[in-house]
Amino acid sequence: MKKVITYGTFDLLHYGHVRLLKRARELGDYLIVGLSTDEFNEFQKHKESYNNYAERKFILEAIRYVDQVIPEDDWDQKINDIKQYNIATFVMGNDWQGKFDYLQDYCDVVYLDRTPGISTTKIKHDLK
Ligand code: CTP
Repeated sequence: MKKVITYGTFDLLHYGHVRLLKRARELGDYLIVGLSTDEFNEFQKHKESYNNYAERKFILEAIRYVDQVIPEDDWDQKINDIKQYNIATFVMGNDWQGKFDYLQDYCDVVYLDRTPGISTTKIKHDLK
């Protein structure tokens, strides 16, 4: 079985997120999402999510393209996760282009095109 992993906050789940998850899942047979914990968002990414971790996890687990959700609470956990879960492909949106090339020693690294015109930040801004 070919396992794929991606990471993110996935707050206020939107069309761009689902497109990313669909394409990531199509790169293999099993998709794991490393979901940023609330503490990781607040103290490392310096952004507060609207939905808390349990809510974001619940929503992601209802998406047909997602097989498993694990917590992301450290920038440096990726190599361990790739080894522990026997990951074949690491995927991120191309807003992260080049940033994770160092993982190529451990698995394939793929950057997918972001969906234009939508983001959690934009939703929050537009609804204000
Ligand atoms: N993503 C995407 N297309 C979008 C928005 C996000 O493909 N329009 C991808 C990102 O590239 C990333 C994943 O979805 O791989 C999770 O991104 P996340 O940062 O949680 O979502 P954003 O909407 O970009 O959130 P924010 O505005 O808070 O940065």
